[in-house]
Amino acid sequence: MNPIQDLQLRIDEAFSEIRFPSAPADLYNPITYTLGLGGKRLRPLLVLASCQMFGGDIADAINPAIGIELFHNFTLLHDDIMDAAPLRRGKETVYKKWNSNVAILAGDTMFALANKYMLRTRPQAISQVIELFNQTAIEVCEGQQYDMDYEKQQHVSIPDYIEMIRLKTAVLLAASLKTGAIIAGAGSADCNYIYNFGIHIGLAFQLKDDLLDVYGVQEKFGKVSGGDIIAGKKTYLYLKALEAAGAQTETFRHLYVTPDADNNQKVMKVKAFFNQLNIENFTRELIDDYYQQAMNDLSSISLSGEAMEEMKDYTAGLMEREN
Ligand code: IPE
Ligand code: IPE
Ligand code: MG
Ligand code: MG
Ligand code: MG
Repeated sequence: MNPIQDLQLRIDEAFSEIRFPSAPADLYNPITYTLGLGGKRLRPLLVLASCQMFGGDIADAINPAIGIELFHNFTLLHDDIMDAAPLRRGKETVYKKWNSNVAILAGDTMFALANKYMLRTRPQAISQVIELFNQTAIEVCEGQQYDMDYEKQQHVSIPDYIEMIRLKTAVLLAASLKTGAIIAGAGSADCNYIYNFGIHIGLAFQLKDDLLDVYGVQEKFGKVSGGDIIAGKKTYLYLKALEAAGAQTETFRHLYVTPDADNNQKVMKVKAFFNQLNIENFTRELIDDYYQQAMNDLSSISLSGEAMEEMKDYTAGLMEREN
């Protein structure tokens, strides 16, 4: 069995071997730039780790793993336009460095490339893998639309928010794990357990992303601190603060939804509310709840041993991440 670090190396190596045409430069340079910045590459890792856990050959899973990461990177190019985000992975976002048209088209190309890579697996697994991939892509778009709708919508409940992050983020982590399981030939019950595990890890992952957006260190996180506050995103931190603010609810709502000429000032004021209302702790508690649910899903799987332990350790590490 390969330890997680070896799987990560295998993924990095596979990415370093991909070559794109040199022209048109403004189509392929942004793709090379984005992939060159790496990121955590956690989704392809989940594909390989799951495939290995269910006794599959990771050679059958490496191309779909790359495909899922290409898809993820495509969503980031478009997401940064939608969120007006200037920084990603510590560097200028593609639409800032080039322009929005370039980011849209480079993203579209990555989506098509992703499809090509998804097809390169065991013939018996292809149709299930592609069906899952396309359904997941649709759901991610649904989640992204809710995310944007909620910027303008006054009343958003916490269950609305959870459903939004299930779609925009959790389903892709879940699909990564299930793709690995399908390729390994796992049974349908195990495929469902690992998918649910991914949903719960994914919910915790997006909650942590929202937390780092406010409380992370920009140099480590690689994205602008307070970006969600500046964009008026309906994050868990905001919705929980509204709930906890009592007599100050209206004052807080007004502060949050009103654009400020000075973004830093606004971030500081909102953060002071969060601090006063203990929002960081509430968020950590919810992350932990979902993490525990994920551990439950894992314990339903009819496997034991080293590979399961590796999966547990890796996902525990993700909960503690700073980037
Ligand atoms: C960012 O994903 C988008 C979210 C779903 C929060 P990652 O945090 O996995 O970003 P990279 O790929 O490591 O940069
Ligand atoms: C990311 O949500 C979801 C997708 C990219 C599909 P965010 O907008 O919170 O992601 P970051 O923080 O920009 O990475
Ligand atoms: Mg964003
Ligand atoms: Mg977004
Ligand atoms: Mg975010």
